[in-house]
Amino acid sequence: MASDPFQLFDEWFAEARASEPNDPEAMALATAGADGQPHVRMVLLKGHGPEGFAFYTNEQSAKGDQLRANARAALVLHWKSLRRQVRIEGPVERVSAAEADAYFATRLRDSQLGAWASDQSRPLDSRTTFEEGFEQVERRFEGKDVPRPPHWGGYRVSPGTIEFWTDRPHRLHERRLFTRDADGSWSEGLLYP
Ligand SMILES: Cc1cc2nc3c(=O)[nH]c(=O)nc-3n(C[C@H](O)[C@H](O)[C@H](O)COP(=O)(O)O)c2cc1C
Repeated sequence: MASDPFQLFDEWFAEARASEPNDPEAMALATAGADGQPHVRMVLLKGHGPEGFAFYTNEQSAKGDQLRANARAALVLHWKSLRRQVRIEGPVERVSAAEADAYFATRLRDSQLGAWASDQSRPLDSRTTFEEGFEQVERRFEGKDVPRPPHWGGYRVSPGTIEFWTDRPHRLHERRLFTRDADGSWSEGLLYP
């Protein structure tokens, strides 16, 4: 059997990009802080390879707090049209400032401004407060490039396991589990569905 989970991921991701009606890069990110309570939300996959699976966010958000307390996460991508699921689990590290800068620079200007205007995960008294904050940020950066806010960056989940799930008739699904060995190589096995 193939023992390069990244090549398989690339193939599946390319097929998802070609077939999903929207957001093929959407993935659920599960984290748990010091109290052990799991939290899950969607984020967008913005880079992947043997070094890990990256997403970008506000580092002062709830997920940022949880990752500071416990730098481990689980991801799941579900491509409904293809009836496929990929699960990834492992330790998390921050992407470098240079990498975060490079990605931030590719975002649309309003998204860049939004990163300054949003106190992500904090209580908001009204939508108007947020809109006024956004307008202030628009004025602040008028005529200038918008730099990456210091509290905004990326995280990379470095996989210890990657599982590829394929729908099969009668719920006799196929599950291929790749596990990273101590020497960094990958071994593959099957799981009962
Ligand atoms: C399809 C989809 C993609 C999303 N992508 C991101 C993302 O890449 N980064 C992000 O910070 N939030 C993203 N969000 C919003 C998050 O789900 C979440 O509401 C936000 O990050 C706050 O989460 P937290 O309070 O647990 O930190 C996305 C939401 C959806 C539905």
